[in-house]
Amino acid sequence: MENPSLLSLIVALLGFLSPCLTRLTPRVSFPMSSPGRHLTRFSCRDVSNTTTLLLSEDGDMLYVGARDAVLALDVSHKDAIILRSKLDWSPSEKDLEQCSMKGKKMADCPNFIRVLQFLNTTHIYACGTFAFSPRCTYIHSETLTMSIKPDEGRGRCPYDPYQRNTAIIVDGELYTGTVADYRGNRPVISRHLSEARRVDLKLDDTLGWLEDPTFISSSFSPDEEKIYFFFSEVGREYDFIDKFIVSRVAQICMSDVGGQRTLQRRWTTFAKAQLLCQADNELPYNVIQDIDTLPPAEGAPADDTVFYGIFTSQWSVNSGRSAVCSFRLTDIKSVFSGNYKVLNRDTLQWSTRVQEKVANPGECGLHNASDNALRFVKENFLADDSVRPVGRSLSMVSTDHNYSHLTVQRVKGANSKHYTVLFLLTESGYIHKAVLLQSGAHIIEEIQVFEQPQPVKSLKLSIPKGMIYVGTSEGVVRVPTANCSFYWTCPQCVLARDPFCGWDPASKACVEASNTQTSLGQDTEKGNVEEACNSVSFTHRARFGPNKLPAGELVTVSLNEVVRLQCPAASQLSKQLWERPNSRLSSDLYLHLEDGSLSFVATPATLGHYLCLSTENGYQQTMAIYHVKQKSILMAQTPGYTWPQTHPIPTTKAGLHASVGTWPKRADTRQQETEPTQSSWDTQVTTRQRDRNVTFRTEESRQKEAEFRDGELLLLARGPCYLKELVVVSVLLVLCLSLLITMLLYVIRQRCRSRTAPQAGTPTRHSDRRTPVEQEALRGVLSKRNGQALHSGQASRLVCNGALTGSNGHLPNTPI
Ligand SMILES: *[C@@H]1O[C@H](CO)[C@@H](O)[C@H](O)[C@H]1NC(C)=O
Ligand SMILES: *[C@@H]1O[C@H](CO)[C@@H](O)[C@H](O)[C@H]1NC(C)=O
Ligand SMILES: *[C@@H]1O[C@H](CO)[C@@H](O)[C@H](O)[C@H]1NC(C)=O
Ligand SMILES: *[C@@H]1O[C@H](CO)[C@@H](O)[C@H](O)[C@H]1NC(C)=O
Ligand SMILES: *[C@@H]1O[C@H](CO)[C@@H](O)[C@H](O)[C@H]1NC(C)=O
Ligand SMILES: *[C@@H]1O[C@H](CO)[C@@H](O)[C@H](O)[C@H]1NC(C)=O
Repeated sequence: MENPSLLSLIVALLGFLSPCLTRLTPRVSFPMSSPGRHLTRFSCRDVSNTTTLLLSEDGDMLYVGARDAVLALDVSHKDAIILRSKLDWSPSEKDLEQCSMKGKKMADCPNFIRVLQFLNTTHIYACGTFAFSPRCTYIHSETLTMSIKPDEGRGRCPYDPYQRNTAIIVDGELYTGTVADYRGNRPVISRHLSEARRVDLKLDDTLGWLEDPTFISSSFSPDEEKIYFFFSEVGREYDFIDKFIVSRVAQICMSDVGGQRTLQRRWTTFAKAQLLCQADNELPYNVIQDIDTLPPAEGAPADDTVFYGIFTSQWSVNSGRSAVCSFRLTDIKSVFSGNYKVLNRDTLQWSTRVQEKVANPGECGLHNASDNALRFVKENFLADDSVRPVGRSLSMVSTDHNYSHLTVQRVKGANSKHYTVLFLLTESGYIHKAVLLQSGAHIIEEIQVFEQPQPVKSLKLSIPKGMIYVGTSEGVVRVPTANCSFYWTCPQCVLARDPFCGWDPASKACVEASNTQTSLGQDTEKGNVEEACNSVSFTHRARFGPNKLPAGELVTVSLNEVVRLQCPAASQLSKQLWERPNSRLSSDLYLHLEDGSLSFVATPATLGHYLCLSTENGYQQTMAIYHVKQKSILMAQTPGYTWPQTHPIPTTKAGLHASVGTWPKRADTRQQETEPTQSSWDTQVTTRQRDRNVTFRTEESRQKEAEFRDGELLLLARGPCYLKELVVVSVLLVLCLSLLITMLLYVIRQRCRSRTAPQAGTPTRHSDRRTPVEQEALRGVLSKRNGQALHSGQASRLVCNGALTGSNGHLPNTPI
């Protein structure tokens, strides 16, 4: 009963403090159909639930188990996935009728293919749920024809399509973990298709060798001729918590043929152990979600095989988090060759009582051992020790993503260093590509693969082709594992810290490291640009040397216009920073917005050059240069940089009528510009977005991008006319700023008071065009600004003119 892990668990439970986890942000995000990552999709109207994937050895053919069908997809072409052949395999009307008569939903009665394995060079073995009456069959892999009448699938495939199972064929024999009855409460690990003098084997199910398991995966260890099963189940050894779930690894030997009297036609080599994904003094991530095998590096011993698993937690403190833990085959082997717990058959409780060892449980070759020895292994199959993760720590924790599937690859980077790269599928439909480094995990990128969360998915990695296949309810998506050409400068290529990619100085391109013999610029561990690219960050002086002002993009403005300069982020990990030659950006005059853009009011003092720099990993790069110039009064036409506002927001019905006549239409920009008095008292907000697709986005900017999408003009803030005041203000601003602030605030207060009554229902022609999203965004931006800006004269004018924010709480009813 006394159990060190029990104690440590209690300690963990009591002393659990939400650990300080740093958020892992993907460096680059590729949203759906982004040009930086070309996805190939296969979907077909009458093909759905394409969730069981099997890749041919050469990686040219992908077999898909779908609903009522098996497909052969030709994936050898670069730009398309081609359907080669399709086998329809559905239950008959009568089967379906019986299924629904048994009380099952019609939508769950089709034949969902859940086992798809190569049997030999010519045939595939497939099993499906077949209207809650599982069937298996042999399929010719070229023609996709069924060769023999279907077998019964009991014990090989689940009845219920929502139950997870695992299956693997080795040497023509099928090893499965699934439930073997209609109700789903007889789990079994078994062997089928045994021939000659070997018999099919299964677990002895009288003793509760499995406790309500969820099967995750199985793996063949060629060196030991063992099959490992991974699953979660109720941990009976922890009897102090009701239904405490534990993750397990179980083993069986392929040479097993069962006992002669005891354990006849049953496994004599079954043993299981706990997989513990837990950091010190924390609650364990106890529920395994998926696991993948990383074979040893070339020439390394088989014991160096590592299993990478995704684990989540049963407890709400850790909900929404997932951890990745890795387990070495050596550690699993040494746990199985250690001591075993003892089951008290009356109470069904486990203890670690030391006893005389009659046999070594888990040992291969017990088939003609004595009855005594077999009885011993029959009762001692739970290893005393738990398998601990490599380095006794978690490989990676994500605080804000539920990972459901993973696949792992060893990547040879430039300079022949090896890195472990994980591809993790999130519940929300993204693939995260992460590299495990000494300093922790680094998420190189995220790629959106589907829009709607999908209930059942699968993930298959094709290393020779450099592709990942994702099977979902709706089809198959192919994702390239890397696209180095997306990074077009050496700093970008190095900052990505992608072991797949390196900078080739000869071709001046970011290229795949595996295809190149020459030495490449790459620093996966640290991302040090200066070393890898042989380049130096610009210093302020270098940027603004004497008489060396950069040209920049011209932005022409009118005085008192609110200018907003856009700065594309180099990545989601970069920080943006604005600079001007020879002057500081005082926070009184400039607003740094959350998306990295800069906002200020055009005055003689704020005209001039602006540089936006992005800093990442200690490296600075220039993202944008602007030259803000005052619009010449005689200038006939501005080259499309500013859009004078023509959307008055009258505050009363009378105001609306009055303004319709006096305000120029949008098309009359030119006329308006030649009459500066008309427009100069407008509050204008000019947004600039660089002519570049910004695929690097932060969580916040994702919403903002929606606002930007249709046009570059974001803010249409305007309000009642303050012509005289503004003229005065502009003059006074320069002469006597402090006095002005006081006056202005006073005036504004007066005005605001008289205008804050709800005024909904007077939309103008133009404001009609704005979607609710845009309006909401507009409010958001303005109210954010308000917080920082009230001490600034100009900014507070903006706030009030916009009539959007105010300390008096009428904001939501005020029209924009
Ligand atoms: C890689 O990125 C480049 C630049 O964004 C793009 O043109 C190309 O189509 C991408 N290739 C793939 C295979 O995604
Ligand atoms: C593969 O297995 C099937 C089914 O048992 C059998 O008909 C076929 O002859 C086998 N093919 C080879 C090459 O052994
Ligand atoms: C993760 O999963 C939990 C439970 O399954 C759910 O409550 C949570 O909203 C999910 N979080 C995300 C970010 O999808
Ligand atoms: C085990 O049984 C096999 C036949 O099943 C026999 O040939 C072999 O000698 C036996 N080994 C021992 C150690 O009894
Ligand atoms: C099959 O796919 C549909 C969506 O297309 C989904 O609602 C359903 O749950 C899936 N069924 C199974 C058994 O996965
Ligand atoms: C940006 O992407 C959109 C579609 O994603 C495309 O139509 C447009 O041409 C792209 N612009 C640039 C500058 O690449």
